[in-house]
Amino acid sequence: MFQKDLLKDKRILITGGGTGLGKASAKRFLDLGATVYICGRREDVLKATERELSEFGGNRIHALVCDVRDAAAVEALIAHIWEEGALDILMNNAAGNFLARTEDLSLGAFQSVIGIVLMGTLHMTLACGRRWLSEKHKAVVLNITTTYTSTGSAYVVPSAVSKAGVQALTRSLAVEWGDRGIRMNAIAPGPIKTEGAFSRLLPRPELEEAAKKKIPLGRFGTMEEFADLAAFLVSDGSGYINGEVVTMDGGEWLQGAGEFTALGRELTEQEWVMMKPKGKRS
Ligand code: COA
Repeated sequence: MFQKDLLKDKRILITGGGTGLGKASAKRFLDLGATVYICGRREDVLKATERELSEFGGNRIHALVCDVRDAAAVEALIAHIWEEGALDILMNNAAGNFLARTEDLSLGAFQSVIGIVLMGTLHMTLACGRRWLSEKHKAVVLNITTTYTSTGSAYVVPSAVSKAGVQALTRSLAVEWGDRGIRMNAIAPGPIKTEGAFSRLLPRPELEEAAKKKIPLGRFGTMEEFADLAAFLVSDGSGYINGEVVTMDGGEWLQGAGEFTALGRELTEQEWVMMKPKGKRS
C-alpha cells in the first residue's frame, strides 16, 4: 500500500505500544523504515514486544517504561529520548476503559481512566510540543479517540469524557500550533478486535455477533487496517490534513444514528411491497 521508505528517518513514540493497536502500529511503522519508541507501564510486556518486533526493525525498536499519568515520568522519558535526537511523531494511543454503571464508579476509577486517556495525552503532547516549538522542529501528533466523543456513551463515561477532551485538544492545538509546523490529527476507531479492548468491553463471546450487526460492513476492523491509516496520517503524504478526526468504524455510528435504519431492517418483504404506491405493488 505504501512505498517501503515512507517513514524512513522518522522517529516515532507510541504510548501504550506494547499491545493491541499500538503494537500493530509499531510494526507497520518499522516496516516503513521508522525508528520506533514504545512506552507503557509493564516492563515484561514491553520487552517481549521489543524482542518480537526487532525481527522487523532490528535496533530501530526501543521499549521504555512510563506511566503516562505521571507528568514527571513523562518529562523524564521525553528528555531521555531527546538525548538521542528529537522525535518527529507522537502517537497518543495509551488508553484505559471498562464497562460499568456510572453510579457504581469510585473517584479512583474516574481518575484512573481520565489520568491515562486525557492527562496522559496532555502530558505527552506538552512535553514534546514545547521542545518542537522552541527548536522549530516540524512534527506530527496522532491521537486515538473514539466514535462516541460527540454523542457520549452510557456505561463508559470516564472514557467518553476523556476522549471528548482529547478530541478538543486535537482540534485546538491543530490551529494553535499549525502555523509553527505541528500537525495534529486523530483516528476514531470503531470496534477492532484486541485482547485489551474486547476483554473489557465485550465480556461474552456471543455479544460479538450482536455487535457485528450494528456495523454496515458486517465485521470488525482489523489491526492492519488501523495501522495503515495511522501510517498515512503520520506520514508526509497527509501533509495538508490538520485538525481532522478520521472515523474508521465500517459505518457503525452512522447506522446507529440514522432514524429509520433499525426500522427498515425490521420490515418484511411483504411490508416493503405494501409501502410502494398501489399501482407498483408487485
Ligand atoms: N469497574 C469499576 N471500577 C474499576 C474497574 C471496573 N471494571 N476496574 C478498575 N476500577 C477502579 C478500581 O477499583 C480503582 O478505583 P479505587 O482506587 O477507587 O479502588 C481504579 O479503577 C483504578 O484501578 P486499578 O486496578 O488500580 O487500575 P490501574 O489504574 O492499574 O489500571 C485500568 C487502569 C482500570 C483502566 C485498567 O483497566 C487498565 O490497565 N487498562 C488498560 C488497558 C485498557 O483498558 N485497554 C482498553 C482500551 S479500549
